[in-house]
Amino acid sequence: MKIITAVRGFKDILPPETDKWRHIEDTAHEVFRAFGFNEIRLPLLEKTELFRRGIGESTDIVEKEMYTFLDRGEESLTLRPEATASVIRAYLEHSLHAAESVTKLFTIGPMFRRERPQKGRYRQFNQIDVEVLGPDDPRTDAELILMMIHFLRRIGLKNLNLELNSLGCAQCRPAFRDAIVTFLRGSEENLCGDCRRRIGTNPLRVFDCKVEQCGELVSQAPNMADFLCPECREHFEKVQSSLSLFQISCKINPKMVRGLDYYTRTTFEVTTEFLGAQNAILGGGRYDHLVQELGGPDISGIGFAIGFERLASLIPEGETDTPAGPLLFIAALGDRALGNAFSLCNRLRMKGIRVDMDYGGRSLKSQMKRANKLNSAFTLILGDREIDENRALLRNMIASTQEEVGLDELEETIMKIAR
Ligand code: HAM
Repeated sequence: MKIITAVRGFKDILPPETDKWRHIEDTAHEVFRAFGFNEIRLPLLEKTELFRRGIGESTDIVEKEMYTFLDRGEESLTLRPEATASVIRAYLEHSLHAAESVTKLFTIGPMFRRERPQKGRYRQFNQIDVEVLGPDDPRTDAELILMMIHFLRRIGLKNLNLELNSLGCAQCRPAFRDAIVTFLRGSEENLCGDCRRRIGTNPLRVFDCKVEQCGELVSQAPNMADFLCPECREHFEKVQSSLSLFQISCKINPKMVRGLDYYTRTTFEVTTEFLGAQNAILGGGRYDHLVQELGGPDISGIGFAIGFERLASLIPEGETDTPAGPLLFIAALGDRALGNAFSLCNRLRMKGIRVDMDYGGRSLKSQMKRANKLNSAFTLILGDREIDENRALLRNMIASTQEEVGLDELEETIMKIAR
């Protein structure tokens, strides 16, 4: 019979890759905690309306990429394509804004987008998502970006390119939008069908069209920087000067508009040349109207999301501090030894020591081979004779030395080694 494989674009994360994932998650918890963030866990399924309203009807995500279906109760549900809208839904549903003037949250988990799968792009992928709700002070933007860069450096990433832009606010964006419409109308014949339609619906989305000729045209388009109102300009300058206090260098990219509709003012991305075509490790920005658009009070927000798979792919194997193999492998020969080893092995495990053994009754040679393959630091050789004599051989697999240990002191000896 044919085996059943995973769905296209959905990926298994296998060991030892999972060790790397654990290391990234632990570091995220440690760094984010220090900056005052708390973890939030959210459902993967939401009402479709949340993303339509939150991300924007005419974005690629909502138009083409969502996993949306009617459930048995005929309600339209969607597997979340991103976490920001869900974080705000939970923030409002549980009135977190009433408890604190600043709410700092992070969440780690899978997102779903039906894009064309390729290296670094999956249909189920994971994000480390971080959001700050409350203040619109530019120092909040700088603090968040600082934490993000510090986290990436702690993980061991080098040669990161931080790109920054400001998308203005409800006062200054309309003039920019009009200028873009005028510009695009003049060159409609050079645009793809989707972008021609976008001129009327959502002209900024032409900026992130993946069709080459649209990209070429956009490079000539007006820049938001020339339309920023004095308040937005000052906000953007303060973000940059606060970042320079921490020697964080960035490049201003006036063409970066991001693929979601909710952004205002500061937007940013981190890219690296080591990722190939899908070169964005993360993206984020400020969203000063999203909370209101989702039915809440006038509260600002800013956040970012890191692509977990892309981040993990940048860390070489073996660079995480998780021990590679067990501390002890028990090679048991004979029935009585096997019974003894079984209880010793599980007693030590319950004391937190990584121990392995093999129940197959295989030869000493093949058990030693297995201990080597597992990268075990020590091997205990236990046969029925050793049980009779109440002592066994403990072999140091790294130094290639061995010593006899009394079975009564065995547990204590292993505990000592573990310390
Ligand atoms: P985004 O730019 O759509 O932003 O996604 C953030 C990151 O998720 C990307 O930079 C990339 O690393 C990763 N990513 C996106 N799509 C895929 C995919 N198909 N396969 C693998 N990785 C992918 C957001 O999602 C916003 N919610 C970020 C945000 C949070 N803005 C404010 N707060």
